[in-house]
Amino acid sequence: MKNVRLSQAETEANKLAKALHGGEVLALIGDLGSGKTTFTKALGKALGVRSTITSPTFVMMQQYQTTTKNKEDKPLWLYHLDLYRTNNFSEVKSLGVEQYWGHPETITVIEWADKILDQLPKEALLFKFTRDAK
Ligand SMILES: Nc1ncnc2c1ncn2[C@@H]1O[C@H](COP(=O)(O)OP(=O)(O)O)[C@@H](O)[C@H]1O
Ligand SMILES: [Mg+2]
Repeated sequence: MKNVRLSQAETEANKLAKALHGGEVLALIGDLGSGKTTFTKALGKALGVRSTITSPTFVMMQQYQTTTKNKEDKPLWLYHLDLYRTNNFSEVKSLGVEQYWGHPETITVIEWADKILDQLPKEALLFKFTRDAK
């Protein structure tokens, strides 16, 4: 688990983007306003997502094509999940997450991943976000 302060969220995303190859699952944990979406937006920008990454409010998941290629020279897709409004894994499963997470052409980012901690793939990378001390 990596601890990330809100003020470092963008820097961390930029650093991480360079190390991603495809198939990674990033599990983001932390209170409202702690920087999870900020991190995801910066990651998308660094990977070359051209559309605007929004906070998925009524949609639990959004996918974006990036301009980054994986080892097989295929474009990576960024899958952004926000589990704020769900409490049950069967709902998450119905999005087909298990078919794409870990897939070599995807990077999966999950906000509020603590809600499905026991169901996450074991290779998931955990990031714990905290607001900076006042
Ligand atoms: N470096 C920073 N310092 C202070 N506030 C920031 C910084 N980066 C982003 N913010 C603000 O902090 C809030 C973080 O919210 P967000 O990333 O949506 O959190 P979460 O997705 O964890 O609920 C946003 O209002 C954003 O504008
Ligand atoms: Mg958010």
